[in-house]
Amino acid sequence: MDFGKLYSERTHSMKASEIRELLKLTEKPNIISFAGGLPNPSTFPVKEVEEATHRVLRDHAKSALQYSTTEGVTVLREAVAEHLRKDGMTVHPDQVLITNGSQQGLDLLGRVFLDKGDTIIVANPTYLGALQSFNYFGAKYASAQSDGDGIIPESVEKCLADLKKKGIRPKFLYVVSTFANPTGTSISQSRRKRLLEIAHEHDLLIIEDDPYGKLRFDGADLPTIHSLDKGEGRVVYLGTFSKILVPGFRLAWSVAPMDVTRKMVISKQSVDLCTAAFTQYIAADLLAGGLIDKHLPQIISLYRGKRDIMLKAMDKHFPKESTTWTKSQGGLFTWAEMPQHVNTIQMLEAAVKKDVAYVPGKSFYPDPKEGFNTMRLNFSHPTDEKIQVGVERLGHLMQEWAAKPAKSVMA
Ligand SMILES: Cc1ncc(COP(=O)(O)O)c(C=O)c1O
Repeated sequence: MDFGKLYSERTHSMKASEIRELLKLTEKPNIISFAGGLPNPSTFPVKEVEEATHRVLRDHAKSALQYSTTEGVTVLREAVAEHLRKDGMTVHPDQVLITNGSQQGLDLLGRVFLDKGDTIIVANPTYLGALQSFNYFGAKYASAQSDGDGIIPESVEKCLADLKKKGIRPKFLYVVSTFANPTGTSISQSRRKRLLEIAHEHDLLIIEDDPYGKLRFDGADLPTIHSLDKGEGRVVYLGTFSKILVPGFRLAWSVAPMDVTRKMVISKQSVDLCTAAFTQYIAADLLAGGLIDKHLPQIISLYRGKRDIMLKAMDKHFPKESTTWTKSQGGLFTWAEMPQHVNTIQMLEAAVKKDVAYVPGKSFYPDPKEGFNTMRLNFSHPTDEKIQVGVERLGHLMQEWAAKPAKSVMA
């Protein structure tokens, strides 16, 4: 059959990512991969999950094995609201929608807010999965610059002014507020406040995606942007169990003003009716029973150790004169920027030949002409030894490529 004649316009406009294809090469058995974004499986609290599963089957089998409401199981929504209240967020359980991962939250927000051609303001670079979700709805992007303190408010203001001149009202500002994917950086407290002021001045909605905020290794906690929004309801907040419990449950939450939550619920009904009740009951047992708070320090300590090993190895082997990288205070990633003439997509092929891999940074930029000299490195998943060996191998390659004359590395 000629499916091409049947596919929707949307399907025709979907593109396989060149970089994802390239990353398939990194699945070779001997490769040391910094390309993934996976939590370390040694952090999964298997015994506690097993015990909670028994309790759920003993006490809640009839509802846990049933369909749940689209909004999510009440005990979990209450436990999430309570968990967020401890962080200074004012959240009513009715505002909490349980989703199949935050990735579904992003998709639902796309469904609720985006028409083809609508504009979103994003940090440059930003989370690839968000761009993929929003691309599906035909989004366009205005990208604001970011630095070590996250997205730059003046740059957001410039985007708003430029859009205004063209008569465009952006649908929202999307940010990964703390220990961002891909850069590992966080938006400073003063910038969070300024972003809210800008949002107020321009009647702008902010989507705060925060999967990593709890994974802090050093420094003081930052308030979420949502918690700084005093009563305006300008922030939709996304959180997830993927990095603080297990990603395999596919459980996350959104917190939004009631009207938006209702619209997301209606959208979700058509997507999957509801999130699995079984894992929701298990997560509720673990969250309300305090397991997550108790377990978090172990995750943090493991990742802090790995971050330290990676940074130390980078310091020793990366070309310091020409390359900069982020000293992440939490999360799963560091981000390196090589000299402009180095194309990290081309360099990846050479890296894979040396059995080491990373994600070329280009895919995190909405503008296809940007980010050729950047790369994301994950430290949560590889073993300590592999981090050392892999960074050394990669460092040698980077030294070589940074030193090559510009013309010989540009295709
Ligand atoms: C910034 C960001 N948002 C959302 C997600 C999706 O998380 P999940 O669907 O596992 O909750 C990820 C996953 O890595 C992420 O890095």
